[in-house]
Amino acid sequence: MRDAADLSPLDPFETPVAVLDVGRARRNADRAADYCRRHGLAWRPHVKTHKSLEVARIQLEAGAAGLTVATPREAEVMSAVADDLLLAYPPIGPSKLQRLMGLPRTVRLTVGLDSEAALGPLAEASRAAGRQTGLLVEVDAGLGRVGVGTPEEAVALARSAAERDGAAFRGIMFYPGHLRVPESEQESGLADLSRLVDRYIGALSDAGLEPEVVSGGSTPTLWQTHRVPGVTEVRPGTCIYNDRDILGMGACAPEDLAYTVLATVVSTAVPGQAVVDAGSKALAKEPPLPTLPGFGALLARPEVWVRALSEEHGVLDLSETAWRPSVGERVRIVPNHVCVSVNLQDHVLALSDGGATAWRLDGRGRGPYHSGPSA
Ligand SMILES: Cc1ncc(COP(=O)(O)O)c(C=O)c1O
Repeated sequence: MRDAADLSPLDPFETPVAVLDVGRARRNADRAADYCRRHGLAWRPHVKTHKSLEVARIQLEAGAAGLTVATPREAEVMSAVADDLLLAYPPIGPSKLQRLMGLPRTVRLTVGLDSEAALGPLAEASRAAGRQTGLLVEVDAGLGRVGVGTPEEAVALARSAAERDGAAFRGIMFYPGHLRVPESEQESGLADLSRLVDRYIGALSDAGLEPEVVSGGSTPTLWQTHRVPGVTEVRPGTCIYNDRDILGMGACAPEDLAYTVLATVVSTAVPGQAVVDAGSKALAKEPPLPTLPGFGALLARPEVWVRALSEEHGVLDLSETAWRPSVGERVRIVPNHVCVSVNLQDHVLALSDGGATAWRLDGRGRGPYHSGPSA
């Protein structure tokens, strides 16, 4: 696939720089929204992928019911455009709680967590602030990262939330991050997931705590979510941009790749390779799927992949192409994992028919770092 886009608006910009194909991002948003509409699912995209208010607006205009965030910073920034936020991460520590309680009162905040130790201080901070925070009990669906391991634990936590003034039990959440395989290989994983979700919904309902929300969804499993009965909303993040891993899993097509890092060839001195100015500090040194080599590939020449990365150098492997670039030539690179590449950028250049505009990534970073008086 050769790159048909008009890249001339990018000419004045120094590299390496992240480039967003706005038309592709809009199409990706519309496709996710349309899928969710057809299957009666609420679409709550995770903003950790893009960290941009402009991109969040695209998602909300396309039909997102609210946004998912991972950090207080993302919550604060996204509260400017969304009044329904899910923090899909346990907020531990007084500073984080204080920041969450400082969100505009118009924001309906829901938090996913898996312990009494997380629930107690959150409920107390909410009560003291005169707020009520929604609670989703996080369930381990197989990734083995966070989440309660039994329906009994979920019932106990849900009951505890239901009994506290500052918290309102709303349901459960899970993240099927263990199913990072092509759709054709998801069959048994989805069947296990369906049984697990059914068990949790059943146990909670039997205890009089029927979940109003069952929040799941990742990009690799997004288009199969309707096959897991009981799920009410999905939180995919990556599908707004996609990346080389998602393409490698067959969960997007090449024309759905909306994010690249524009880089310049700086050396061809060593035969069989070209070196670009995008290294690990622009692309992120993310290992690929077992089926793929390297740390990224060219958008227009996927047979050219990034064989090695140091901080400011990316080594392009030319063994499978007759193309021999010159020093000064520019290329667009698709990273293996887009979210961590985005997190390394100050801004993305939003490329559309109107030219290229720098969009700030306001959700990036974590500050302010503490809630006390400045040191
Ligand atoms: C809790 C949670 N929800 C949703 C997502 C989004 O999944 P994906 O990146 O596959 O779109 C992630 C990704 O890390 C996550 O950790």
